[in-house]
Amino acid sequence: GPERNADLRALIRTIPDFPKPGIAFRDITTLLLSPAGVATCIERMAAAVDGPVDLVAGIEARGFLFAAALAVPLRAGVLLIRKDGKLPGATIAEDYALEYGQDRIAIHADALVPGARVLLVDDLIATGGTARAALRLLRKAGGVVTQAQFVVDLPDLGGADRLRDDGITVHALVD
Ligand code: PRP
Ligand code: HPA
Repeated sequence: GPERNADLRALIRTIPDFPKPGIAFRDITTLLLSPAGVATCIERMAAAVDGPVDLVAGIEARGFLFAAALAVPLRAGVLLIRKDGKLPGATIAEDYALEYGQDRIAIHADALVPGARVLLVDDLIATGGTARAALRLLRKAGGVVTQAQFVVDLPDLGGADRLRDDGITVHALVD
């Protein structure tokens, strides 16, 4: 029905000079406010999934929203990839480069049964630094990761291509 055919591009707002001068920030909060936008996103992401998955891994913070919603139709579990220091149990962590300095993400060391099929999800891929660190973490833990999905790809920043070089099928709803 028409409720699942929202114009996702039109629902994403661009905020100039955030978080710093010269950056055009693609803001998905406006898409999230739209019932048709949310339904369209999840339906299209679910339709693009290739084969069965055991877990949908979402990256903090905005990736959690899409990972959890997508896990419902896929009948998969949700694996949280968090900023370091947030998870209570024993963790494994990966560092990744930011424009200035580094950051670190982590998962629980026992979150994955080796061989589990994991779909990686985030709201947006830019340089790919975050998603590639997530991929290293999931593979280190024994996960089988062959596909990743994003609401938005910023193709000029090259992250999706780098993730493809890591052997991942990358799907995004909006470029
Ligand atoms: C944003 C976005 C991705 C990442 C993309 O998250 O949600 O996770 O940056 O950038 P990259 O491809 O260059 O690594 P952010 O670090 O702003 O965290 P947040 O979701 O907690 O705001
Ligand atoms: N929007 C949201 N998150 C981001 C962006 C953006 O334009 N660039 C890097 N992370």
